[in-house]
Amino acid sequence: MNRVDITKKTFALTTPLYYVNDVPHIGSAYTTIAADAIARFHRLLGHSVLLVTGTDEHGQKIQRSAEAKGLNPQEFCDEIVPNFISLWELLNIQYDRFSRTTAPNHAAIVQEFFQRVWAKGDIYLGQQKGWYCVSCEEFKEERELLEGNRCPIHTNKEVEWRDEENYFFRLSKYQDKLLEFYRDRPDFMQPESRRNEVLNFVNQGLQDFSISRVNVDWGFPVPENPKHTLYVWFDALLAYITALLEPEDKPTLEAALKKWYPFNLHLIGKDILRFHAVYWPAMLMSAELPLPNQVFGHGFLTKDGRKMGKTTGNTIDPIALVNTYGTDAVRYYFLKEIEFGKDGDFNEVRFIDVLNADLANDFGNLLNRILGMVKKYCGGNIPSVANEDIPAENPLKAIGLGLGEQVKDAYEALTFNQACTLVLSLVQASNKFIDDQAPWTLYKQGEQAAVEKVLYAVLESVRLAAYLLSPVIPTISTAAYQQLGFEIDFNNQINTSIVAPFQTHSQWGLLNCEQNLGVPQPIFKRIELPKNDE
Ligand code: MSP
Repeated sequence: MNRVDITKKTFALTTPLYYVNDVPHIGSAYTTIAADAIARFHRLLGHSVLLVTGTDEHGQKIQRSAEAKGLNPQEFCDEIVPNFISLWELLNIQYDRFSRTTAPNHAAIVQEFFQRVWAKGDIYLGQQKGWYCVSCEEFKEERELLEGNRCPIHTNKEVEWRDEENYFFRLSKYQDKLLEFYRDRPDFMQPESRRNEVLNFVNQGLQDFSISRVNVDWGFPVPENPKHTLYVWFDALLAYITALLEPEDKPTLEAALKKWYPFNLHLIGKDILRFHAVYWPAMLMSAELPLPNQVFGHGFLTKDGRKMGKTTGNTIDPIALVNTYGTDAVRYYFLKEIEFGKDGDFNEVRFIDVLNADLANDFGNLLNRILGMVKKYCGGNIPSVANEDIPAENPLKAIGLGLGEQVKDAYEALTFNQACTLVLSLVQASNKFIDDQAPWTLYKQGEQAAVEKVLYAVLESVRLAAYLLSPVIPTISTAAYQQLGFEIDFNNQINTSIVAPFQTHSQWGLLNCEQNLGVPQPIFKRIELPKNDE
């Protein structure tokens, strides 16, 4: 049974499958928040969306973390995984699939895929010598290492020397095909800087990479030789495909690939670009499967200027952050303040400033202010002004008319900060418009029609702003929409029924005087700086 509504465009995207060596930190939350905003935006467009997230549970890193806790690896993973699930709930992530690499149906997919690549003659036995970073689960070139043989990414971890028999995947065979693919599909890797990074890497010449390990028990046995376990990355990338199986499906590639495949987007951090933009397409070429449309590698978050990471121990607890400031606040800061694709910093003072300026002062106050004025000057009813009554030169209408399309372009390009900034420009213009027009004076002068036009233009602009920000701050947008008299919940935009379609709601001029306004309530309370903060 095909559950996809075939009349709708489908959009399938993934977050990375997170290592479960520890509970999630804000870095893992960052990718997931962005993925959720994209998924929500596509749902507004009326697409059938599948958002895949999950956990990567095999390999030496997890095996060692389990040993350190005195647990067997499966028990250890089962303890950690609920932390991811509950964090996604706290962050209001509406994912469709949670793919665990220890899920029973995954083994069959991995086995079938391995056999295909094996049958192609792309796997052979060889000797692997080199420096291995267990935290990255990746071999490093000697020239990449920091002083004291430390990993450039996990700077407090020493790499380990390996000299062992491994199975290799013939990556080198795919060098020309990959270059041809990148040429034909210039949008495949985004942003541009990542594309260049990958092109440089591939142009330097690709070497075959090892896809099995000896001395690591926690993984799938290599079908041809159970003394080896499969390299964790070979297994993990395939869990994207396993995620596509419906519960009633037989675990076969055919069943998994028939609905959502190929993926529209793999969203990842820049540290795992090679795996997604080089190894993964080559593996898929070998198995003769279609390639994903796009890989987007975002930047790294730093805290007060320093790299943050599970292994470096310098992390922010996303749960504490949400509990202190709220879900939408956290979502907003990371998407608005950081240029997606570039590195970005978390600094609590800046965080508070941005939220107070944008959400409390500009947006929240505007809604409150306008609802107060509508009550005072229009008896609490939406003024009976039609869109046509407002001239196109009205400064708010002038911005509002093109805004939907501009913001759409920004979301599609994953430039979330641009999307938010564009919306904010309408919000700021609205505050200025009220000051310039001074409806209180017009009211005193008995210019009721003019008052109503001003109020309508502002109400409509707040509505449009709330709508266009809903992928980022769905709960605040819902509160704003409900105060404007809509019975719409942006947390309930399920695939089958779009309650606020983009086609109509992204147009300036939708608000209608038949609608009753709701009860005004602050949508975002100003955050006060902790008193003893130095
Ligand atoms: N298990 C692999 C992914 C396998 S996908 C088939 C993995 N997991 S991870 O948990 O280490 O990292 C997951 C994601 O979190 C990566 O995209 C990584 O870039 C991101 N981040 C980890 N630390 C980060 C920051 N400090 N800042 C931003 N993102 C970072 O890699």
